[in-house]
Amino acid sequence: MAKNEWFETVAEAQRRAKKRLLPSVYGALVAGSEKGLTIDDNMAAFSELGFAPHVAGLSMKRELGTTVMGQEISMPVMISPTGVQAVHPEGEVAVSRAAAARGTTMALSSFASKSIEEVAAVNPKTFFQMYWVGTRDVLVQRMERARAAGAKGLIMTLDWSFSNGRDWGSPAIPEKLDLKTMIKFAPEGLRRPRWLLDFAKAGKIPDLTTPNLTPPGGEAPTFFGAYGEWMQTPLPTWEDVAWLREQWGGPFMLKGVMRVDDARRAVDAGVSAISVSNHGGNNLDSTPGSIRALRPIVEAVGNEIEVVMDGGVRRGSDVVKALALGARAVMIGRAYLWGLGANGQAGVENVLDILRGGIDSGVLGLGHSSVHDLSIDDLVIQPGFMRALGA
Ligand SMILES: Cc1cc2nc3c(=O)[nH]c(=O)nc-3n(C[C@H](O)[C@H](O)[C@H](O)COP(=O)(O)O)c2cc1C
Repeated sequence: MAKNEWFETVAEAQRRAKKRLLPSVYGALVAGSEKGLTIDDNMAAFSELGFAPHVAGLSMKRELGTTVMGQEISMPVMISPTGVQAVHPEGEVAVSRAAAARGTTMALSSFASKSIEEVAAVNPKTFFQMYWVGTRDVLVQRMERARAAGAKGLIMTLDWSFSNGRDWGSPAIPEKLDLKTMIKFAPEGLRRPRWLLDFAKAGKIPDLTTPNLTPPGGEAPTFFGAYGEWMQTPLPTWEDVAWLREQWGGPFMLKGVMRVDDARRAVDAGVSAISVSNHGGNNLDSTPGSIRALRPIVEAVGNEIEVVMDGGVRRGSDVVKALALGARAVMIGRAYLWGLGANGQAGVENVLDILRGGIDSGVLGLGHSSVHDLSIDDLVIQPGFMRALGA
């Protein structure tokens, strides 16, 4: 009998991904910079929030759908951009298909292993995410390529400060997979035969290039080649953000905002959305959990732009807590990466189904009939929970 690949929580997906993936690939997904204070707080902070449930007069029908950046989504959960080289042969295309199957948006990282053309072709609700890499002309060329491929929104991620030390040791990521490197990684591969088999069945080797950063008529740079270009690029100003927003013209999200004053500047720069985010704890360690910074930002700019959050979302109840604090939706990173690592596209669908079930239970138990009815009154909030940064 075939093994049942279905899992009931994201924690179980993570356990299975750990067993299946090459240890260095798994380690790259765990990530978290330096001591891991921020990645830990992203999750710990959700545990500090409680619910105040009702028991009778509950609603048989619950509406979970909403809209973000002009896209209707079947539930308030979106795919956050990650470069998922080497997790699965179908990589971001599998994630995009899963998101489409569950009626939500896909965001493709410009550092991803699959092209925007392939990814947008399987999900009409695709956004393209860029970092500030290269000259203005190069940025526009990459942006226009994404638009031509069908991207419906642009996400600019600015929270990156090139910190690279990790107390638990960074996994070795090769520049490219040539014969020499494959021999070096062979012992790891032999301990993870199912991961090898997935690639062998697909007739592929893990692609460590960044096809969305290919110059016209040139070749896709390697991940590290692209990273080098990024490190040499002059850092953007708020005027640069406003300029890029204008070039794009459509729905535009600034991702990585943690401070109230930065949120206000983002509004001034004309963005349509922000994600309150600390890059999943991969950027500046000691930044507080992003859910702590959400409410003050919503209070400051929530009437002017759409505010979503990401960081630490592992269950539907986390989504409900974020919405009760005023987020329009959340974006998930590792949750879907664990699903992808555990069981490919079906694993990502499985994760989205788990989140949907948890959101529905939360809305039901809190006595509402729609995610739009969630409010701060539904929560038990410990004193000192919030962090109003830059207020
Ligand atoms: C392995 C990995 C790669 C990531 N790559 C990107 C990226 O290319 N662009 C980006 O904007 N964010 C990137 N992120 C951050 C995610 O978009 C998101 O902010 C974060 O994962 C949310 O936290 P969570 O993993 O706890 O859900 C990455 C995160 C991880 C774990």
